[in-house]
Amino acid sequence: MTSHSWKRRLLAVAAVALLQPCSAAQPRGASWSIAATGDFLGDVVLSKDPRTTAVWDLVRSADFGFFNMEGQIFSSQNFTGSPASENGGDNNYGNIGGGPFYDPINAFRLAQYGFSLASHANNHAWDYGHEGAIATSQYLNQAGIAVAGTGESLAEARRAVVQERNNKRVSFVAAAGSHTPQSVAGPGGGSRNDRPRPGANVLRAPVVTRVGAPQFELIKELSRAQGQLVSNEMTDIPLYTGQHPLGWSRWQLSRDNETSLLWDINADDYTGIVESIRATKNSSSDATVFSLHAHEADSGADDSYIPLPLPATVPAAYTRNISHAAIDAGADIVLIHGPHHLRGIEIYKGRPVFYSLSSLTYSLGLHFRGVDLPIEWDDSIVAITKFDRGKLHEIALYPIVHSQLTNNTCVPESQLPKLAPRPEAQRILRHLQKVSKPFGTEIVVKRNVGYVKLSR
Ligand SMILES: *[C@@H]1O[C@H](CO)[C@@H](O)[C@H](O)[C@H]1NC(C)=O
Ligand SMILES: *[C@@H]1O[C@H](CO)[C@@H](O)[C@H](O)[C@H]1NC(C)=O
Ligand SMILES: *[C@@H]1O[C@H](CO)[C@@H](O)[C@H](O)[C@H]1NC(C)=O
Ligand SMILES: *[C@@H]1O[C@H](CO)[C@@H](O)[C@H](O)[C@H]1NC(C)=O
Ligand SMILES: *[C@@H]1O[C@H](CO)[C@@H](O)[C@H](O)[C@H]1NC(C)=O
Repeated sequence: MTSHSWKRRLLAVAAVALLQPCSAAQPRGASWSIAATGDFLGDVVLSKDPRTTAVWDLVRSADFGFFNMEGQIFSSQNFTGSPASENGGDNNYGNIGGGPFYDPINAFRLAQYGFSLASHANNHAWDYGHEGAIATSQYLNQAGIAVAGTGESLAEARRAVVQERNNKRVSFVAAAGSHTPQSVAGPGGGSRNDRPRPGANVLRAPVVTRVGAPQFELIKELSRAQGQLVSNEMTDIPLYTGQHPLGWSRWQLSRDNETSLLWDINADDYTGIVESIRATKNSSSDATVFSLHAHEADSGADDSYIPLPLPATVPAAYTRNISHAAIDAGADIVLIHGPHHLRGIEIYKGRPVFYSLSSLTYSLGLHFRGVDLPIEWDDSIVAITKFDRGKLHEIALYPIVHSQLTNNTCVPESQLPKLAPRPEAQRILRHLQKVSKPFGTEIVVKRNVGYVKLSR
């Protein structure tokens, strides 16, 4: 087609628009859908179980399929890296190290089941150091799955990757709140013009405990006993735990005498993540997906190590902060994962935030580390979100279970997701209704599927 005929066409389109001043404005933006799941943390063994193949069919029914790549993908036959000194599985360092890794066949199966977006920014990202992260990205990319959240530099780890399916394009940014200190990617530069450091895109948000005047006097006494020079005017004090500052705790005098926790969000990380999302609005993508790995509950505890009582599993305030900021910057959907159970769903400015999508593949059974696990730790969902010409159109929640249909974790199939039968589906959806209510979100249940009530 000549440029002349293009111009004629454009003029014709403009004329039609002018001639129809009363027709309803056409919403701009793309129509697209995404099936979101949580942590991949167990092999996708082949299975003919119709409840499992139904899960893969659901994932394939959407334009994009998302999961969090917890751990690494490499073959033990030819991997040349070694376990790092820190490991995302234990709050510990040294010793043997290491963590979960999976044979490359998993990458190809996940692609076949409809997955096309994987986050690798999480606490297990660096369990096998740089080599582990490279191998993982390479295998996933070879399978056709876009990986975000780790890279050869901070810029690369933070940058959006673009994925295209069914003529639709999404920009995809991933970050980790829960992370190991040595996994943090670096910007390079500085006075020596150093090379950037490979690693993960993290959001540092250490917790500060605020206590009233009498309790703060005790903190001062403890810090003086540690040999610190503490003046009477000080209102912000660290307590040492030895050797290195990563484990030190920080205490502040609370003005109102109330005890509370403050998540001290690192301004550079916050700005970097928000800007990376904002930049996607200038790309040719139809939409932007933001993923965050965050275990922390607002009580300050890591909510994935041992189960907390349900009221204590409210997501940490920093996760709500970055989710809102991400949407303000242009994200269309926020997918959070980390806890091995479901947290609530919020609709913020017409965009959904899933505060915990639980596990895609995982099953700890009913007992773990000497603790009885609540059945909710076996629950999960596939959340299918549809956008119609840029507007949130539908969120359908399909409950899934892992090992609770047999309570036998000795077979590899127990790790696989299974579409929940009616009693379990109803229980899971009731739970989601309960944990979503504080966000003002209502979920309507039709048969075994939950639909988030959207304002039209
Ligand atoms: C390592 O082994 C896996 C299979 O175990 C194979 O798919 C892969 O191509 C091998 N990688 C290299 C770099 O040789
Ligand atoms: C905080 O508590 C202390 C000791 O109980 C009291 O002296 C002080 O007035 C209280 N401050 C406020 C702001 O309530
Ligand atoms: C988007 O593009 C415009 C025009 O080139 C530019 O002024 C703006 O800074 C860009 N914004 C971002 C976030 O990159
Ligand atoms: C999130 O926290 C940062 C840093 O404290 C603050 O600047 C920002 O306004 C907060 N954003 C939202 C959306 O709450
Ligand atoms: C598995 O354990 C859960 C929790 O105790 C129980 O509700 C469920 O009935 C058990 N299922 C089977 C098949 O035993």
